[in-house]
Formats: sequence, structure tokens, C-alpha cells
Amino acid sequence: MNLILFGAPGAGKGTQGALLASRYGIPRISTGDLLRQAVSEGTALGQKARKYMDAGELVPDSVILDMVCEVVKGDGAREGFILDGFPRNVPQAEALDGMLCALGKSVHAVAVLDVADDVVVKRIAGRRSCPSCKAVYNIYYEPPRTDERCDNCGSALTQRADDREETVRRRLQVYRDQTEPVLAYYRERGTAVLLVRGDRSVDEVQAELVSSLVS
Ligand code: AP5
Repeated sequence: MNLILFGAPGAGKGTQGALLASRYGIPRISTGDLLRQAVSEGTALGQKARKYMDAGELVPDSVILDMVCEVVKGDGAREGFILDGFPRNVPQAEALDGMLCALGKSVHAVAVLDVADDVVVKRIAGRRSCPSCKAVYNIYYEPPRTDERCDNCGSALTQRADDREETVRRRLQVYRDQTEPVLAYYRERGTAVLLVRGDRSVDEVQAELVSSLVS
């Protein structure tokens, strides 16, 4: 299965993508995670990407496309993949089609997590992540057992630099202006676009995602 997980910032793509990846035994490829890793390692790519991410803007396509191409072509993605946070504009969708076509593959479905803006703003404000094992929590909805410490490894949880409210508003605007048009791109090409209500519990959203993928 070659799936695109689509939705606004904070819609739950990372949360649902991780569950789907373990259910189907295929990798979740998150461009946001790859970029944050490059930033934390201080690579040239990370240094270039950081100012865009901190401002809530898209990182230039030239940076993103090389990164995605390498992972999609890799052995790990032979049985399929779940793309999270990519493609984020129509040129990226066109480039993905080109990459997959060269590999004799295609996108099977785009699953859209539909969540209202006020819900995503609260989810993002409450998000905390573990810098060591990368587990994600929410202080409102899925708090860790011990105050702001990771349940798995005990590290102090951190908040993402781009999760401040003004940056979140900008990320939502960028999503409306540049990312939502990608849905029309896939609909015009006859790719299945599956709408899933993302404003319920994690388990309920996962159940609806799985049933919409098998039907
Ligand atoms: P990226 O990391 O992709 O961020 P995003 O799309 O803004 O999405 P988020 O990671 O904020 O949210 P999510 O939908 O994964 O939600 P999550 O599951 O964590 O991108 C960051 C930046 O990198 C971009 O702004 C851009 O600069 C750059 N970038 C990345 N890809 C790029 C590309 N292709 N091109 C150019 N630039 C790119 O959940 C959020 C919170 O809610 C968590 O706390 C979670 O625990 C909680 N939660 C999840 N589901 C539920 C639920 N059902 N009920 C209650 N709480 C829930």
C-alpha cells in the first residue's frame, strides 16, 4: 500500500501514521521528522531548513524532493509506505508522481484527517515530545504518567519550536493556501481521496482509517 496521510498541522497524521505503519509493517515517511532530525544534527540541510520551519513556512522543494526520493527508492519502502507531511504543494505532488512512475509505482490512496482549526490549535499547544525516543504526548489528551517526563525512557519532554500559537496560525494559513490544492490534483487524476473525521479519539480515528482503506 502506498498511502498519503493528509491533514492540517496537528490533525493527527503522525499519531495515526505510526499506528498504521506498525499495523501494516510498512514505513511512515515524515518529512517533518526528517527535517527536525537534520536540524538537531546541525547538517547543512538542517541549517537551511530551520529558518523556514521556525517561521511556519514551507521549506523549498529542492531540499525536500531529494530527501523524499532517497527514502521512497530505498529497500525499506519496497512493500509500500505511508507519507506524512508530503506532498505539501502541487509541484511536490507532480514530482512524487514522476519518482513513483520511474519505479513502476503509484499512490493508491490519500487519507484526509478532517479536524477543525480550534481543535488543532489546542492539540498543538498541548503537544510534547520525547527528544530521546521520539514518543509524542499531549498534556490535555494523552498526558504522560509523570509530569512532563517520557513514560518509556524518563527523559524530560520538550515542545517543538514551531508550536507557538502565532507560528501555528501561519502554518494553518500555508496549509489552506498551498497544501489543500493537492487534494484537487489527486481527485482530477482519479486517485482515491478518503475523508476521515479526525476529531474523535485516537482509537476511533484509527478504526475508521483502517475500514476506509479496506473498503
Ligand atoms: P510537520 O512536522 O509535517 O508538521 P505538520 O504537518 O504541521 O503536522 P504536525 O506534526 O504539527 O501534526 P500531526 O498532524 O502530525 O499531528 P500529531 O499526530 O503530532 O512539518 C513541520 C514543518 O516542516 C512545516 O511547517 C514546514 O516548515 C516543514 N515541512 C515538513 N514537510 C514539508 C514539505 N513536504 N515541504 C516543505 N516543508 C515541509 O498530533 C498533534 C497532537 O495532538 C499530539 O500532541 C497528539 O498526541 C495529539 N493527538 C493526535 N490525535 C489525537 C486525537 N485523536 N485526539 C486527541 N489528541 C490527539
